Amino acid sequence: MAANWKMNKTVNEALAFAEAFIHLGKNAEVDIVIAPPFTALAALSRAFSGTEVKLAAQNTHAEASGAFTGEISPDMLKEFDCQYTIIGHSERRALFGETDAEVDKKAVALIERNIRPIVCVGESLQDRESGQALEIVAQQVQKSLESYPSGRAEELVLAYEPVWAIGTGKTASPDEAQEVHKAIRRTLKELFGSPAEEIRIQYGGSVKPENAGALMAQKDIDGALIGGAGLAHESFAAIVRYQMESKG
Ligand code: PGA
Repeated sequence: MAANWKMNKTVNEALAFAEAFIHLGKNAEVDIVIAPPFTALAALSRAFSGTEVKLAAQNTHAEASGAFTGEISPDMLKEFDCQYTIIGHSERRALFGETDAEVDKKAVALIERNIRPIVCVGESLQDRESGQALEIVAQQVQKSLESYPSGRAEELVLAYEPVWAIGTGKTASPDEAQEVHKAIRRTLKELFGSPAEEIRIQYGGSVKPENAGALMAQKDIDGALIGGAGLAHESFAAIVRYQMESKG
């Protein structure tokens, strides 16, 4: 269960969240991941040390170093105990022009440093209305993982986030989401064979305590990438607790 904070929370605000949330991280039976802005990674890695809460960055550059003003490399993320990094989020694709080919390079660069990529894919409203959602998402998965080493498949995380459901309050119905997750699993099997069964596929897009249970009950939905409801410790904790109870 991962919270993507996007461009929210100063270091002080991040620490206040950590203080209120930390008790859950001490005996977690599910993987809990928080993706704060880069600036809060150092403080949170100290605050959550010795707990089960893991950190993710929200982006990375694919190169190790160089003349890339304003960018952050996977080696830099490693220093903050980042065990995961989100790549190809639809906001990065739409607002910053990130392409499948770039996501592919980033995924390889991350796994080479033992950072697990959370690769985001998802169709637009137009794609869905024209009946092309499954095809578009399968293509994104293939292209975003073209060079990914098959021996590391089990460490991958996919996040299916229909663009029309992100931050809109509209959620894909559990059946709609399951249909796409199943198609993603099929594509992953074509790429990597049987280890695809072990790859976590998260659903994202207006997940909240009220709808998390029905979504997570679907066969191919293994977790969630949570934006808005991941910003308040109460709602994120409620979603994490639900998942713990359903696993237990
Ligand atoms: P949301 O965002 O939960 O606010 O819809 C999800 C995301 O963009 O990861």
